[in-house]
Amino acid sequence: LIYAYVKGKGNIGDGLSRLLTDVSQGYFQPDVGGKNIPVAQGELSDLAGDEPLFKALYKWFIESGGVFKLEFGPKAFIVISDPLVVRHLLKENHLNYDKGVLAEILEPIMGKGLIPADLETWKVRRRAIVPGFHKAYLDACVAMFGRVTLHTASKLEAATAAGPAELDMETEFLNLGLDIIGLGVFNYDFGSITTESPVIKAVYGVLKEAEHRSTFYIPYWNLPLTKFLVPRQRQFNADLAVINQCLNELIEQAKNTRQVDDIEALQARDYSKVKDASLLRFLVDMRDADLEAKQMRDDLMTMLIAGHETTAAVCTWTLFCLMQDERVEAKVLAEVDAVIGDRVPVWEDFAALPYTRMVVAEAMRLYPQPPILIRRAIGDDVLPPGLNGDPNGYPIGKGADLFISLWNLHRSPHLWKDPDTFRPERFTERFENAGFGGRWAGYNPASQGSSLYPNEVSSDFAFLPFGGGARKCIGDQFAITEACVALVMLLRRFRFTLKDPKAVGMATGATIHTANGLKVTVERRVPADAAAAAPAEAALAS
Ligand code: HEM
Repeated sequence: LIYAYVKGKGNIGDGLSRLLTDVSQGYFQPDVGGKNIPVAQGELSDLAGDEPLFKALYKWFIESGGVFKLEFGPKAFIVISDPLVVRHLLKENHLNYDKGVLAEILEPIMGKGLIPADLETWKVRRRAIVPGFHKAYLDACVAMFGRVTLHTASKLEAATAAGPAELDMETEFLNLGLDIIGLGVFNYDFGSITTESPVIKAVYGVLKEAEHRSTFYIPYWNLPLTKFLVPRQRQFNADLAVINQCLNELIEQAKNTRQVDDIEALQARDYSKVKDASLLRFLVDMRDADLEAKQMRDDLMTMLIAGHETTAAVCTWTLFCLMQDERVEAKVLAEVDAVIGDRVPVWEDFAALPYTRMVVAEAMRLYPQPPILIRRAIGDDVLPPGLNGDPNGYPIGKGADLFISLWNLHRSPHLWKDPDTFRPERFTERFENAGFGGRWAGYNPASQGSSLYPNEVSSDFAFLPFGGGARKCIGDQFAITEACVALVMLLRRFRFTLKDPKAVGMATGATIHTANGLKVTVERRVPADAAAAAPAEAALAS
């Protein structure tokens, strides 16, 4: 049976959909509680098509409401699309939830890294890592984002030297994202924009396997001998060994090259004097000199995986949206030409790019990465009624599996005007739904606080591009600034045209990616204020 699945069906459509069509196997816990939760009506086999799971869940959300249950045989999971219930899960009672199914899938890859870690390990490691993302580090990273984007720009310049060229921009953003995360997290230059190496191949191999595991409903890889007998599992273990060896060497090197002046510069947050501005340097010098190498490796591996595809997907879908909206594109270009021109941006520039920031946020609203967050109750709980649920709330038992649908929240007709329309200006407007009697604070730009970007606070948990509460993304500022730097620099220099948006398609793994690549026509752009944008090679040399 396993052989048949692996060989025959392993590659079709969206595996998560198929997960729901099987009654007896898989990861999910037996149905534990939530007796009064509405059960979605419909055939689970409806999910077996090519449509991504999160889109199917949207239809049921519209029919069944912000808290509903999908039952399959003795098992069930609860789908949450209500901001007040999400606030309860992520913030008010977050200690009652772990990552459940997701942790089981990712543990073989990320070990006790922050995403799958048990609560005790998570508390210690989160406290150690978060201070690493301080302002001076992020400042240093922005310069690096610019340098790496210039490499992509050089590649595009070479490709378009003789005229417009067809390129897959999703692949270009993935390469750019990999190079950036390597340099920013452990000062390793993958050089994936220009080269291919065994380590890069291994990283992509492991990412693919993580995706396969999250979309395949029988955890056959846990069976004895599969790592020897199933070719893809053999390859996965070989890839993991290549990356582990690379990370172990980098950790060893960082430990062996500790220097007093580096440590002093780090203590003073003076990154102009720090030779290696990576997060690994900070952790080794400032926090974890004696930490077990395995834990450090798990942390680095987690950030490598969590920070790579996600940011690349944000760039991909932002470009996708922009190419279909001349009005928005023209406004972004006017802002970029006026504020950045041919320079490499610095951190402070983003305060002067309000429209560009909203454009990226709006793309993250329409294409959240990941589209679904996963939780499992580690003790009994009562979910709150939410906006219009059962006034008594919903008692659930220990072990209940929950899917928080960011896709549904971000496109909910109750929470947004014209939810499917790409309209960045919405983030300047107050929006509240009087129908909820003040229980939901609505979207309020005035509540954004000191953040440059709309977030879960300004939307009262209706917009969570980086999650929220205690498990919120630790790389949020790193990632959104990276996406903005890459986009403004490439948009300034090139014109991107998409012939057929429908041909792009959508597929899910850990993130939403295209089904067929983002194949676009790229040509040099001549900005209104310059004869030509400065060639990337010249900028790299200066
Ligand atoms: C967690 C999104 C980039 C590291 C998360 C979560 C989301 C998210 C939604 C919450 C997951 C949950 O609650 O289940 C994104 C997006 C990114 C991005 C959209 C890019 C635009 C990054 C980067 C890094 C990173 C660059 C590291 C350098 C992490 C880690 C966690 C996390 C370690 C787990 C935090 C914890 O459980 O304490 N991310 N992320 N992410 N992210 Fe990101």
